[in-house]
Amino acid sequence: MDHISLIGFMGCGKSSVGKELAKLLPSMELIDLDSYIEAMTGRTIPEIFENEGEAAFREMEKSALEDIFMTGELTGTAYILSLGGGTVTTEACRRMIRRNTTCFYLKASVDTLVANLEQWPGDRPMLKSDKGLRTRVEELMATRGPIYEKTAHHVINTDGDDYLAAAVDIVTLL
Ligand code: S3P
Repeated sequence: MDHISLIGFMGCGKSSVGKELAKLLPSMELIDLDSYIEAMTGRTIPEIFENEGEAAFREMEKSALEDIFMTGELTGTAYILSLGGGTVTTEACRRMIRRNTTCFYLKASVDTLVANLEQWPGDRPMLKSDKGLRTRVEELMATRGPIYEKTAHHVINTDGDDYLAAAVDIVTLL
């Protein structure tokens, strides 16, 4: 079986759907790309953004994906990859994701994204802005929305926050 990748904006449910999918597909190994990069560098994502900037982080996402696909090939492991909200803004990452995975865009409205991000703000450097959360989400989604659509093989709506149902939908599409 191919690897599976989950893409979509921060707060769309990638981590939660990934966990549900991992329960439904126990032969696959779940990797959260942010956690992988934190383990690889020994630093947190906010530390990486603060000390090295966004461009350096995007390079790390690319190297991490190269490592993961290489390891998958060597060990025969199939992965469920929960990617970062901005991973697909890098063209090389988009190419790797399209070629090596069945890619699902977890699509949620700005209302859903804002509500989820207000409930679980976390520490997300890309959302730091004087303009307010909704404006920032709208601004990033204006450029990223079309990129998510063109990268994914399938689109799954996560507006109801029913992550188990989303995972079941994904399994039926494999
Ligand atoms: C980012 C999303 C984050 C993380 C980093 C940058 C983005 O991941 O990779 O803070 O550019 O959208 P989540 O989508 O898991 O929050």
